[in-house]
Amino acid sequence: MKRRDLLAAVAALPVVAAGKKPKAKEEVTPGEDLMREHGVLNRVLLVYDETARRLEGQEDPRTDVLAAAAALIRRFIEGYHEKLEEAQLFPRFEKAGKLVELVSVLRQQHAAGRRVTDEIVKLAVPGIVGTGRIQLAGSLRKFVRMYRPHEAREDTVLFPAFHDLVGQKEYERLGEQFEDEEHKLLGEGGFEKAVAEVAQLEQALGIFDLAKFTPP
Ligand SMILES: [Fe+2]
Ligand SMILES: [Fe+2]
Repeated sequence: MKRRDLLAAVAALPVVAAGKKPKAKEEVTPGEDLMREHGVLNRVLLVYDETARRLEGQEDPRTDVLAAAAALIRRFIEGYHEKLEEAQLFPRFEKAGKLVELVSVLRQQHAAGRRVTDEIVKLAVPGIVGTGRIQLAGSLRKFVRMYRPHEAREDTVLFPAFHDLVGQKEYERLGEQFEDEEHKLLGEGGFEKAVAEVAQLEQALGIFDLAKFTPP
């Protein structure tokens, strides 16, 4: 390479770096990424709670809303979030021989969750009556009962330990990788779309207004 060309190449470098800068600003760490996905999961659990309450009483359970909520769980939680945990987190703990019992239970719960979602999808049909309502409410209650402690344990034990396990540099690299995978699997703005979707479901059930949850 001629000296002039080399200088031109070097001069071009900061431009490339400057072009990448805005992306660095919006970078999300793996822990933050996974925890805000749990936020979406939590909001679906609210939808499940409300639907179970309606099923156990005599109210319209809005099975259309429930079917959409279960589809969101399928796509965003089972198809993306848990896949990420199973591919990027669990094997690292197993290889290091750390938190292996916890990881084993978490794995079993992912599998159990998928089975309960199967039940919910099958039962969430219009015109559900009698024992079907009780059965569906039971599936929803089981799902909520398992996932609240599941995600709380991941947030407070697994994710902090993950940061320690891989070290700062790898942790940052994984943050970028997680984002790439999110785009690949869910398209641009996958998280934002999931938030918008769950907000619509809450609205349909009349549980969107946050102020309604404040005690008088
Ligand atoms: Fe999990
Ligand atoms: Fe999780």
